[in-house]
Amino acid sequence: MSKILVTGGLGFIGSHTVVELQNEGFEVVIIDDLSNSSEKVLDGINAITGKTPVFEKLDLKEKSAVESFFKKHSDLKGVIHFAANKAVGESVKEPLMYYENNVGSLVYILKELKKLPEANFIFSSSCTVYGQADKLPITEDAAVKLAESPYGNTKQIGEEIIQDTCNAIPSIKAIALRYFNPIGAHESANIGELPLGVPQNLVPFITQTAIGLREQLSVFGDDYPTPDGTCIRDYIHVVDLAKAHVVALQRLLKGKNKKQYETFNLGTGTGSSVLEVIKSFEKVSGEKLNYKLVDRRAGDVISAYADTQKAKNELGWETKLSLDDAMASAWKWEKKVRGK
Ligand code: UD1
Repeated sequence: MSKILVTGGLGFIGSHTVVELQNEGFEVVIIDDLSNSSEKVLDGINAITGKTPVFEKLDLKEKSAVESFFKKHSDLKGVIHFAANKAVGESVKEPLMYYENNVGSLVYILKELKKLPEANFIFSSSCTVYGQADKLPITEDAAVKLAESPYGNTKQIGEEIIQDTCNAIPSIKAIALRYFNPIGAHESANIGELPLGVPQNLVPFITQTAIGLREQLSVFGDDYPTPDGTCIRDYIHVVDLAKAHVVALQRLLKGKNKKQYETFNLGTGTGSSVLEVIKSFEKVSGEKLNYKLVDRRAGDVISAYADTQKAKNELGWETKLSLDDAMASAWKWEKKVRGK
């Protein structure tokens, strides 16, 4: 059984990936600092897989703690690195916190991987690196645009750091996965997204409004040059996304990678507008959502959706679940979390 480290493994995408890794027979060790997650997620993972992964509460900004961890777990076969801050607005106010955590931790981990005879590394990146792409759907060779926020910049810098490291150190192989918009929850409703405070992302805001925690959803902008005037995104079910991590890891473990450092888009290939997401939610939940059309939100791109060919051809992976599946699972999870 190959032992895999998942940093940020108690978070939204991390926890779903741990489930898929365990389902595929991997032994998982989680590091998480619990800054935006809870140890209770371990129970959710156990309820689904019948196994509780090893968990160590660890702050990846503490270099000596990272060193000791890797000394203790010298038999790691791969690392999937999710642990990072991810709130765009917060990153504008606290850029140094974002650079220290997202970039600093990455450097410490890579320094440890450098000491191993062989290392396989999966990095959690984002379609935010493309900004407003010149061409849709977005292919992996689309230009990386000037970052809109320090958060986005940490993903761009992160990719560059990994690329440079791979160029210099032949024993490290890496894949950066560029997520489009991950939504939904495990169908069992044992794990899901748990945003701290007021959600910034669309889907948790929708479900929290429908459950009565928020009064009304504001739809940011209805005068965009899109069919219904609202922004278009590629919403991908978190379970599909989690499975892609296992496939990417297996690619490295089996030496099937074509280059030492590779990037892949993870999306469905289909764009949905904000109003279409609301419609899907209303259909699967039977709830009427209270929303109003308001001004645009600063920094939003008009439209972004993935070209999925590279992931299909190279990874042999594509999404299986629909927007309706994702919205239904997000709603089931919201109801469970609120005891309804
Ligand atoms: C956001 C981040 C992006 C990050 C991603 C991670 C911004 C500007 N971008 O992407 O950097 O990688 O989350 O998940 O924050 N919307 C509303 N009302 C709401 C919330 C959202 O109308 O209350 C709209 C937005 O204008 C957008 C769409 O819903 O058109 C999706 O928004 P969101 O879930 O925040 O994702 P992104 O903006 O794509």
